[in-house]
Amino acid sequence: MDYLQLQNIDSLAGTIEISGAKNASLPLIAMTILAKKSVTITNLPQVADIRTLLKLLSNLGATVTFEGTKAVVDTSVLTQTKATYDIVKTMRASILVLGPILARFGHCEVSLPGGCAIGQRPIDLHLKALEQMGAHIEIKSGYIEATTPNGLQGCEIIFDKITVTGTANIVMAAVLAKGKTTLTNAAREPEVVQLCKILQKSGVRIDGIGTAILTIYGTDGKLLDIDSFDVIPDRIEAGTYLCAGAITQSEITLTHVEPKHLGSVLAKLEEMGNTFTLTENTITIHPAKEIKPVKLVTQEYPAFPTDMQAQFLALATQAHGVSIIEEKLFENRFMHVSELQRMGADITLNGHTATVNGKTALSGTDVMATDLRASSALVLAGLIAEGETNIHRIYHLDRGYVALEKKLEAVGAKIKRLKE
Ligand code: EPZ
Repeated sequence: MDYLQLQNIDSLAGTIEISGAKNASLPLIAMTILAKKSVTITNLPQVADIRTLLKLLSNLGATVTFEGTKAVVDTSVLTQTKATYDIVKTMRASILVLGPILARFGHCEVSLPGGCAIGQRPIDLHLKALEQMGAHIEIKSGYIEATTPNGLQGCEIIFDKITVTGTANIVMAAVLAKGKTTLTNAAREPEVVQLCKILQKSGVRIDGIGTAILTIYGTDGKLLDIDSFDVIPDRIEAGTYLCAGAITQSEITLTHVEPKHLGSVLAKLEEMGNTFTLTENTITIHPAKEIKPVKLVTQEYPAFPTDMQAQFLALATQAHGVSIIEEKLFENRFMHVSELQRMGADITLNGHTATVNGKTALSGTDVMATDLRASSALVLAGLIAEGETNIHRIYHLDRGYVALEKKLEAVGAKIKRLKE
């Protein structure tokens, strides 16, 4: 297995190009199941999760090519509708094929994704909504077995909680359903907005895009003609590198980024004393001379994203004062805390709230990545920790960050990928 070795540095300088968004790419790849012919997707991030979902589609019989950041997916002759455990267990977002396959074929079997490090991650809201649309769903030996004897019927759905992939799943199911589906308490993340916009451009009538109430007018089984498109930039990758600039007090510029998707992240970094120069697709951070503490609560978009919580917690260890960070979306998303404490961070956990006393000098040591965003928090800490930091189990990192060590090395970080 690989591990990352970092030495502390004085500062970073230069520009970092942001890749396509992993969490936009996954529903967009699942969306190709709704197309009548091949779909070309560009600006895909070359990360493990994308390869996993493309492999799942080829296991179902799709013709898939993935070169560089471009994929061409042809699902016109899918040969089976079962997403097996071996693939789904490695990536829970495989659940995104359930809605489209069920809507198109009238039956689908998907292995239950199971929990993951950060929490239970139930999919009850996905299943409840599909049942409301007429699906018959059974759980048999770890598989979701869904059938729709008379096809899916549009209806009024209200999500008890805001769910990002739940919204994407139901939007895609509603596209091929009979009649109108209204989805209330829908997710408004930019990744969901892009999915809806591409479906709309492909001839589907969708009202309320970007709001909490989506209305989708089903095509009654008619497959779509989907033109090629670029995936939007990854706002979480971008936020992670902005934190790298802030924690090393470096001025760096991100290119190929969408500043509009980072409103709450930029606002919190400004509260911590950083300032920014923005253009249409670049962000330059002008770091705080003295990092100020922060209070933040993770919530659904457009509020502060849970996927940036770990990175801000690492940054807060360098703030002068007490920061309070509350994780409201997932029940176990503080696994980076114990690793940061081993580096010398002064953090107290009380339920879903972390209190971080700064500024504390961190010292390099061997640490273990536990999940995707926790891994990036350890990288941020390693950039400024005294001495050498070795981050193990970085397969977590490879799920969602394109060539992180190369991008950081190019702006001056002392970081290497080595073999255990
Ligand atoms: C998406 O996960 C993202 N993944 C996650 O990013 C992100 O953290 C999360 O949204 C929240 O923003 C992808 O888009 C592939 P949810 P998702 O359904 O859709 C509860 C990363 O680091 N819930 O919005 O699985 C759930 O337990 C990953 O890139 C139910 O109770 O998250 C959680 O508390 C990590 N029942 C809350 O809703 C359901 O049926 C939000 O979950 C579904 C969700």
